[in-house]
Amino acid sequence: MGKESMWALLIFVAAIRGSLAGIPREIHLLRPHSGSAGERVHGLYCLSWRLGVETHNIKNWNTVPRECEGYVGHYMLYQYREDSKVVAREAVLYVKSLKLAGDGKDVWVFDIDETSLSNLPYYAEHGFGVEPLNPTQFGQWILTGKAPALPETLELYRELLKLGIKPIFLTGRSEDARNITSSNLRNAGFRTWEMLILKGSAYSETTAVVYKSSERRKVEESGYRIVGNIGDQWSDLLGIHVGNRTFKLPNPMYYIS
Ligand SMILES: *[C@@H]1O[C@H](CO)[C@@H](O)[C@H](O)[C@H]1NC(C)=O
Ligand SMILES: *[C@@H]1O[C@H](CO)[C@@H](O)[C@H](O)[C@H]1NC(C)=O
Repeated sequence: MGKESMWALLIFVAAIRGSLAGIPREIHLLRPHSGSAGERVHGLYCLSWRLGVETHNIKNWNTVPRECEGYVGHYMLYQYREDSKVVAREAVLYVKSLKLAGDGKDVWVFDIDETSLSNLPYYAEHGFGVEPLNPTQFGQWILTGKAPALPETLELYRELLKLGIKPIFLTGRSEDARNITSSNLRNAGFRTWEMLILKGSAYSETTAVVYKSSERRKVEESGYRIVGNIGDQWSDLLGIHVGNRTFKLPNPMYYIS
């Protein structure tokens, strides 16, 4: 089975599970109100809430508003892929416009969760971000090593390799998850990388912005140039040594500061 059809099957399974889990019926594509902005939340429509999240006007939120479960579930199963395509396409147009030195020092920083790998199968069973994260259950999901690639990011990854830009994975996953993360990446199609940086215990009390900035600084201080950086969280893209250009993938399911 090709990656595309695997993804389609996964979405289908996620949709079925979601509907069994009591997701409102509006998430189904063919229903007349499927494209609507959904329920109101605190005087906002869910679409406006999501836009606020994506633009980082809404920060430090804990969970998806309960009223928006159906809206976010529907978004993740359909429009999400279209939005991700736009991000990846812009990134490819950008790299193709560059005049690179070709000395092997150009690198691209990839976040992992909801950027390179997708935890949608997990979130589809846990209310698409309405439920507070259960670290034990989420940890068990990570340890299955079965997260599929986000196909748009995988395509970008392949284009970058062709152009001689080396991938660096920089993740908030703990150093303890190194083995399962590297086998999951390989099985999902990310077969090679220059570095796989996981969060060591020294950073246990630091925010993602501080941790990721500090690791990117080390990367550049060792002679690499970060030409691009892609992530689903603003904390992947803010701070220092962020790279010449940053690309924000959508994620209305959770927020990491
Ligand atoms: C990870 O894999 C390496 C080599 O494959 C092995 O030596 C090490 O014990 C593994 N670590 C864990 C935490 O499983
Ligand atoms: C990246 O930014 C630096 C600093 O502004 C600049 O010197 C360099 O040419 C840029 N690299 C690319 C590939 O655009």
